[in-house]
Amino acid sequence: MAPAPTERVDTVVDVPIAILGAGPAGLMLAHRLGRSGIACVNIDLRTRAEIEGTHRAGILEAGAARDLVDTGVSDRILRDGHEHGGTELRFGGRGHRIDFRELVGGSVWLYPQTDVFIDLANARDRDGGTVHFGVTDPEVNGVETDRPTMRFTSADGVRHEVRATIVVGADGSRSMCRSLIPEAGRTQFFREYPFAWFGILAAAPKSAPELVYAHSEHGFALISQRTDAVQRMYFQCDPEEDTEAWSDDRIWETLQVRVAGDDGFSLVEGPVIEKTVLRFRSFVQQPMRWGSMVLAGDAAHTVPPTGARGLNLALHDVKVLAEVIPRALGKEGLDALDDYEPRALSRVWRAQNFSYWMTQMLHTAPGASAFDLRRQLGELDNVVSTRAGRTYLAEQYAGWPTES
Ligand code: PHB
Repeated sequence: MAPAPTERVDTVVDVPIAILGAGPAGLMLAHRLGRSGIACVNIDLRTRAEIEGTHRAGILEAGAARDLVDTGVSDRILRDGHEHGGTELRFGGRGHRIDFRELVGGSVWLYPQTDVFIDLANARDRDGGTVHFGVTDPEVNGVETDRPTMRFTSADGVRHEVRATIVVGADGSRSMCRSLIPEAGRTQFFREYPFAWFGILAAAPKSAPELVYAHSEHGFALISQRTDAVQRMYFQCDPEEDTEAWSDDRIWETLQVRVAGDDGFSLVEGPVIEKTVLRFRSFVQQPMRWGSMVLAGDAAHTVPPTGARGLNLALHDVKVLAEVIPRALGKEGLDALDDYEPRALSRVWRAQNFSYWMTQMLHTAPGASAFDLRRQLGELDNVVSTRAGRTYLAEQYAGWPTES
């Protein structure tokens, strides 16, 4: 679609890469490309403060944590993050530790996505990257040509045009870029779930040294962490649940019942300082390349949060893109972009399976029968009581090496 000739544009820049989205995927891509001397412009509809204030998942694979340090984003994760060598599955009133280190020599880092974002945004400032937060009226044209453009109005009211070689849609689960691929050219795969997560932040000390994923006949609960004084917890709820209907007492009662057991485990309670309902679904759109545009992260795929895969997958996408894009800008031309999807997608579908598997194994579907519940306990038993089962979970959760 050619831009309307009458439309006002105040400034025009030529930059190889235009990135819609300045969350972790978009910023990490700009950071990685910047290290190869490739300039990018990132835009985001949200302000920097809005992104910082959005609570998302908290688990990074050890490889992704190492990449933040080794690529020079920041080494703050080594001070403020916490390395976990395992996780706990709780069911039938008992905890069962899955020891990542012993089983697969791996670990994960508890480091909230908000902190990953803060580090990346600071690194862009430090390295002179161009990032426009809080833009309005974004528009992308010409992705079927080799001169795509991105237009937007920056927070100060200036209308910009970026003339790029490649446009990257890293614009999240409500991506505008993915709808630029015509319906006839794209396929969307998705699965909805009949439940959501009620997420809280509580001012309380830790209840357990590592994360606890709990299955009970009353539903799922996840006991995560943020700092020594603030904890993150979730419990399965109805997608239409209203947070206002939940007092602190009712929240704690619900969580305590879901983790209770003969071993006497209970949560350390404290004031609830934030509550939100998180709806989720499994989603993939293919293809991930269309002409001079590629999609990365949540724009192309989302997973339920149960396996802590979302951020890790997004960071893997941009790691592959940071290898492919320099080739596409060089003598190979845009055809090099064809290498992206096969390398990104195999991990996407493996992660889709893992996230789906963890979700169905740990949640209680509305209307589940006594058979369904006992079958789930059988499945959980198979996982924790065989080395093969524990190893499978550990390998999937701690992440696979990047394929080249
Ligand atoms: C979190 O800490 O927010 C978190 C951790 C693990 C998950 C999902 C969310 O699987």
